[in-house]
Amino acid sequence: MPAHLFDPLQIGALRLANRIVIAPMCQYSATAGSAGDWHLIHLGHLALSGAGLMILEATAVSAEGRITAGDLGLYSDANEAALARVLAAIRAHSPIGVAMQVAHAGRKGSSQAPWDGGKQVRPDQPGGWKAVAPSAVPHGEGEDPPAALDAAGLDRVRAEFAATAARAARLGLDGLEIHGAHGYLLHQFLSPIANKRTDRYGGSLENRMRFPLEVFDAVRATFPAERPVWMRISATDWVPDGWNIEGTVALAQALKARGCAAIHVTTGGVSPQQAIKLGPGYQVPYAHRVKTEVGLPTIAVGLITEPEQAEAIIANGEADAVSLARAMLYDPRWPWHAAARLGAQVHAPKQYWRSQPREFKNLFDGASFGQR
Ligand SMILES: Cc1cc2nc3c(=O)[nH]c(=O)nc-3n(C[C@H](O)[C@H](O)[C@H](O)COP(=O)(O)O)c2cc1C
Repeated sequence: MPAHLFDPLQIGALRLANRIVIAPMCQYSATAGSAGDWHLIHLGHLALSGAGLMILEATAVSAEGRITAGDLGLYSDANEAALARVLAAIRAHSPIGVAMQVAHAGRKGSSQAPWDGGKQVRPDQPGGWKAVAPSAVPHGEGEDPPAALDAAGLDRVRAEFAATAARAARLGLDGLEIHGAHGYLLHQFLSPIANKRTDRYGGSLENRMRFPLEVFDAVRATFPAERPVWMRISATDWVPDGWNIEGTVALAQALKARGCAAIHVTTGGVSPQQAIKLGPGYQVPYAHRVKTEVGLPTIAVGLITEPEQAEAIIANGEADAVSLARAMLYDPRWPWHAAARLGAQVHAPKQYWRSQPREFKNLFDGASFGQR
């Protein structure tokens, strides 16, 4: 029985060689939003992994929309040129699909990198800035409250998403994932925990979905029609009276009607009060529900670490693709090892073909070698 994990997948017009996705992972290693040598090394080695798709880390649409001062951004010509260099290197050596996660941190902006403690950097501290959000409610108790976005602010943020999408189009990215999860700006609009507005962007579910949908429309209208745009959504806040799976399904249906190509289903991030029930594949049931009720290609993520586990998720129809974050950092050749375990074939660079183990004679797609 051939492995389902290694079946091709169609996301809009984008065809992926298999159903393994490298999840977006912030590196907090950019300079004024620009990628550097770290990104070339990090993304370069992940691009050789054999995964079908790599989603670049949360990439800010403005300096203010960064989580930390080291976040990747795509809001200046310098950012665009720096990322072009990284992408050119990847393209020269790997057929992997490359998408980018387009992000705005909202009230979680102006933070330290996790390895520096991850705390808020207040606007009056060196390197800090005033964050913006749907409402002037801080993420954590005692933190500097964000400035609530007014009509002009909403116009500006929408335009920033579109401008970043235009730069991403020029860079030749294969797809865009809008970050609607993990307690960042768009999730803040969705969740009643962060959104206390009384205008048409707050209150009812329809009102709370309005701004994220407007951002989707702005990005979709800018990015070339033949390339997919989708959204990552937190399916629950893990807090009573927070954002939930019913809202997630409603949002995904509204997105589908507007031309969204897929949904990437994660959870949490909007509240320090969250009580997450962790375990292997703990978010997969949410992806399954979205896939069943919405019918868009659905990507599951979260503690998916074993090839057999990933294979079962696809074979059982719980999701159309799996995305891996920590397991890919720990084992950047995870797709090779999964293909070996499941008896499938995977792409590997020709420079590495000779590493194919004796017992897996057909592991590397197209591999052949000889010597005189
Ligand atoms: C180092 C690191 C950076 C991350 N950065 C992002 C990010 O930029 N955007 C995002 O949506 N999720 C981010 N995440 C979350 C992952 O994409 C993923 O959803 C989460 O780690 C659960 O998957 P895993 O169990 O395979 O690690 C990050 C996770 C890690 C470990």
